[in-house]
Amino acid sequence: MSRRTVVSGVALVLAVAAPDMAIADQGRLDPNTLPVPPGGTREQVLLGDKIFHGEAAEGKCAQCHGADAKGTANGNDLTLGMWIWGDGSVTAIKTTIGHNMKMAPGMDGRLAPGDVDAVVAYVWALGHQKPQAP
Ligand code: HEC
Repeated sequence: MSRRTVVSGVALVLAVAAPDMAIADQGRLDPNTLPVPPGGTREQVLLGDKIFHGEAAEGKCAQCHGADAKGTANGNDLTLGMWIWGDGSVTAIKTTIGHNMKMAPGMDGRLAPGDVDAVVAYVWALGHQKPQAP
């Protein structure tokens, strides 16, 4: 086995381990400080935070969007208040997630209807944070 093979083997092990490291809570926002969407509740935002980070409903969101929701190579930044799909309203976010759940069952986790509403409230809150002071 050449030295090159050994080196790429190490790189492969690191790449396989990386998804778990991405779940680490670096940059995770305090859901108590996030805004609550119109018609939603603080409880939904709190549950949505748990789902997003894999602590409820087997949610997988943070694996692709990052614990800080600022995106990874596999999922876009959800904190900018700019949206690829829809206008960032509760209704539009819910449509996007519902579409994903139909196209790729299980990819987002195992979300009951109440879980969807909660994670939608959380994603809405991520995108509607007050601008931070510089
Ligand atoms: C396997 C990776 C993956 C997982 C898991 C995942 N997403 Fe995504 N998500 C993406 C990608 C990639 C996009 C961008 C899709 C596009 O550009 O068409 C996206 C787009 C979105 C959007 C639309 C963003 C926009 O700008 O309009 C929302 C909202 C969203 N995801 C929320 C979630 C939530 C909530 C979960 C967990 C319940 C989740 N995602 C799980 C990869 C993922």
